[in-house]
Amino acid sequence: MGRPLIGRLVVVGIGLIGGSLALSLKAAGACREVVGVARRPRTCEQAVELGIVDRAVTDLGELLPELDAGDVIFIAVPTLAVEQVFAELRGRLPAGVTVTDGASVKGSVIAAAERVWGRVPEFLVPGHPIAGSERSGVTAARDDLYIAHRIILTPLKNTAADHLQRVVQMWQATGAEVLNMPVAEHDEVLAATSHLPHVIAFGLVDTLAHDAENENIFRYAAGGFRDFTRIASSDPVMWRDIMLANRDAILQAIDLYSANLSSLRAAIAAGDSERLMGVFTRAKAARDHFTKLLARKAYTEPMQAQEVTFIAQPGGAVSGSLRVPGDKSMSHRSIMLGSLAEGVTEVEGFLEGEDALATLQAFRDMGVVIEGPVDGRVVIHGVGLHGLQAPPGPLYLGNSGTSMRLLAGLLAGQAFDVTLTGDESLSRRPMNRVADPLREMGAVIETGPEGRPPLVVKGGRTLHGIDYLLPMASAQVKSCVLLAGLYADGETSTTEPAPTRDHTERMLQGFGYEVQRSGARAMLSGGGKLVACKIDVPADISSATFFMVAAAIAPGSDVLLEHVGINPTRDGVINILRAMGADIELLNRREVGGEPVADIRVRYAPLKGIRIPEDQVPLAIDEFPALFVAAACAEGETVLTGAEELRVKESDRIQAMADGLRILGVNAEPTPDGIVIQGAGEDTAFGGGTVDSLGDHRIAMSFAVASLRARDTIRILHCANVATSFPNFAELAKRAGLKLQLA
Ligand code: S3P
Repeated sequence: MGRPLIGRLVVVGIGLIGGSLALSLKAAGACREVVGVARRPRTCEQAVELGIVDRAVTDLGELLPELDAGDVIFIAVPTLAVEQVFAELRGRLPAGVTVTDGASVKGSVIAAAERVWGRVPEFLVPGHPIAGSERSGVTAARDDLYIAHRIILTPLKNTAADHLQRVVQMWQATGAEVLNMPVAEHDEVLAATSHLPHVIAFGLVDTLAHDAENENIFRYAAGGFRDFTRIASSDPVMWRDIMLANRDAILQAIDLYSANLSSLRAAIAAGDSERLMGVFTRAKAARDHFTKLLARKAYTEPMQAQEVTFIAQPGGAVSGSLRVPGDKSMSHRSIMLGSLAEGVTEVEGFLEGEDALATLQAFRDMGVVIEGPVDGRVVIHGVGLHGLQAPPGPLYLGNSGTSMRLLAGLLAGQAFDVTLTGDESLSRRPMNRVADPLREMGAVIETGPEGRPPLVVKGGRTLHGIDYLLPMASAQVKSCVLLAGLYADGETSTTEPAPTRDHTERMLQGFGYEVQRSGARAMLSGGGKLVACKIDVPADISSATFFMVAAAIAPGSDVLLEHVGINPTRDGVINILRAMGADIELLNRREVGGEPVADIRVRYAPLKGIRIPEDQVPLAIDEFPALFVAAACAEGETVLTGAEELRVKESDRIQAMADGLRILGVNAEPTPDGIVIQGAGEDTAFGGGTVDSLGDHRIAMSFAVASLRARDTIRILHCANVATSFPNFAELAKRAGLKLQLA
């Protein structure tokens, strides 16, 4: 045990909150002695018997002369009783003693201090532990109550730094996370998130308890009632005090809620199913998001918060039939066009990955009612091209470049301003490629420094059609301009330097919007409308690629990838692998909802290095990390050129792959627009070691596949973002035959 952090801890009010602090600090060896103060002698006895305090007294005044600098008094009495304790301290507190409290309302504590001392003294550090239980009293105290809970401190300008520091360290010793917040903000946040739910729970139980039939009601009340009203058995005195102490903020929260409840009432009365679905689907999405946050799984969590490492043991082969998740590009577009269509669009096969979910959430935030996703099924209640509403705040798009670039286009034509933000990786990606043509169309777009996110898209502009010659082969830029074109006067056309994925053009046509296409040019006229339709999203060829390469490099492999989209603007991976000698068969070719689909069978066959034809680059743009792994297993040299776009993906994929391949012993030479890889032929292709995926999903999955031809274990860092495009990758990979574990 190290030196105690604080001298004595004096706990005034030995209940759940004070008693638990005492127990936690004792367990951590963080204080020299704990003294309890309680009005009732019986509480004092119990606190000593239970080992919560070393000793206890009924009179705080008696204790004060004993205290020294470095001691801490923690006031854990009901909010309105804090003032009385302050009055006992006034003029009698030895210098250097810190006073802090745990009351749930901070404005009233500050006001009490001002009344007692004439100002807030420098030794007072107001605080509020966000932890509790319906159990109260001394017997409810626990030494683990604060672990991983938040403690909000609301220091004022004249709070002394040493007192603040002591309180911060005290709480950290309990395992809690300490945050600072202004007083008013604390009281407003707590009014909404804690005080209002308590009012409602107390009120609801009281309403039902008054009912003549209450016996029956309680007898039949199942989980919903039980879960919803759990907090109504909390301490009544404490909650009465909180209501009185935080009056204004609570009244505001109640008014907001009452207005919402009345409008729900009206919707029920009017049989307004649309409005009910709007409220319920938005609320469900928000609650699900909150559940994930609690489990630290939400896509809004920064990458570091949720570290996933892949540990891939060497060797093995892949076999069996697999259906990989739905196509990411089509999933994004199905939400966007479904939202802007008139009528209800039903989507099957939707990718429930974080990128597509970010798009879905963005449209919910703009008022679109979207049911699901449940098992890949999504129902979108379209609002028409002019039916979106201003979102309540910035739209956070996580890791998803497609969401940001396509949304920029369709938001440029709205009546309201929107800010688009993303995670660390997205915040580094170039956005001038969309901002420039949109500005030419009359849009007003602000970017961060060097054309990076955040993007602010100003509303209320008149757009005019342009004839845009794309400077690079990018489906995102093409789609952005065409989507803006829906809102522009006249014709908007794009001409691309090489064919890129054409899902936007195809899906617009599927929604009944005319797009004229000839060669590299796509053209549409603004002012039309989209009509809801059914969309069947095939499996994503970019996700299937990992298993195609796995089977192509691991002797003994034979996999069937079911229902994969093989749109000719996406099939570069098949062409390139075939040119390298892979054994690939396309079975059961068919067309589903305007997109060609097939089952893809891949059996192991020795590969040879090739010079990759540049015309295949845009058709396989997302598949290169996995293709580099194939190249490392091929006989001879593979040369890629004309692929500088790879440097501005979720990571610089040329550098990231070259670095990882070299760590694994591969001779890989990056060039400005590609890479040269010397393959191992039929020998062991990779050693072992630790590689960094840099949070790029496709780099992470590619190195997992490499393990099939490795000599030793490959550890792959920062793999959480695999969930952006392929949430069940690890599960499918294991089922197919990879020896993959997560840590
Ligand atoms: C995509 C286009 C491509 C691709 C991305 C998805 C799309 O990006 O890399 O994963 O859905 O339009 P670029 O347009 O930047 O090439």
